[in-house]
Amino acid sequence: MGIQRGRFITLEGGEGAGKSTQAQMLAEALRGQGIEVVVTREPGGSPRAEKIREAILSGLIAPLGPVAEAMMFTAARIDHLDKTIRPALKRGAFVVCDRFADSTRAYQGALGNIDPRLIRSLERIAIGADKPDLTIMVDVPAAVGMARAAQRGGAPDRFESEAPAFHEALRRSFLEIAASEPERCVVVNGAQAPEIVARDIWSAVQARLPVAGEAPKMILMPKSKPRRAAKSRAGGK
Ligand SMILES: Nc1ncnc2c1ncn2[C@@H]1O[C@H](COP(=O)(O)OP(=O)(O)O)[C@@H](O)[C@H]1O
Ligand SMILES: [Mg+2]
Repeated sequence: MGIQRGRFITLEGGEGAGKSTQAQMLAEALRGQGIEVVVTREPGGSPRAEKIREAILSGLIAPLGPVAEAMMFTAARIDHLDKTIRPALKRGAFVVCDRFADSTRAYQGALGNIDPRLIRSLERIAIGADKPDLTIMVDVPAAVGMARAAQRGGAPDRFESEAPAFHEALRRSFLEIAASEPERCVVVNGAQAPEIVARDIWSAVQARLPVAGEAPKMILMPKSKPRRAAKSRAGGK
């Protein structure tokens, strides 16, 4: 037998939910356990997929319609899996991916006008057996996420500039995905302080993909009121 395959963790949620922040915190916590971690993101995560990302987020693809957009996400995902994710898992690393296939499902679903069977087929072809072992849905009210994203500065991208109703629909889509696949997904309340969110995510990782024993100190900092919120949520619906 060769090296044990690594684990594939994805972070999903709307704009400004805290996915990128939590991806870094989770990677640090895992590295603290001596685990090799590859942090990556979608769209992007490999040189070719990053080029596709630029095209999508600049708004170049949107006028070509949602099917073209879904195809471009898929093209990027195939390259990302090929060049970055599979090689990392194969050598035993943990992959922490900031957005993945649920974002395509939710965004295209929220935009409404694409056959869900097409999305599913593209997903099956692109991903095959390499489904995420664990998906963390970082959940915040759309208005909170949008306010955070706006504070981050810069011009709004292709999706940040969609209407508030779109972002509410998006949030519902992510929660529906989590409810429909409780064995893969855990919903974490992203409207808490970053360290609390990180602690809840760590609890979920330990519950689903136990690594070593101790939680990292950074996350174990004793609070005045210890909470165990993550545990009940981690059980899925
Ligand atoms: N739990 C949190 N509470 C308050 N602000 C946060 C929290 N998590 C992240 N932020 C801030 O909100 C903004 C968006 O976070 P980010 O991690 O980039 O979100 P995402 O990747 O989901 O779009 C950043 O400026 C970040 O510093
Ligand atoms: Mg981000």
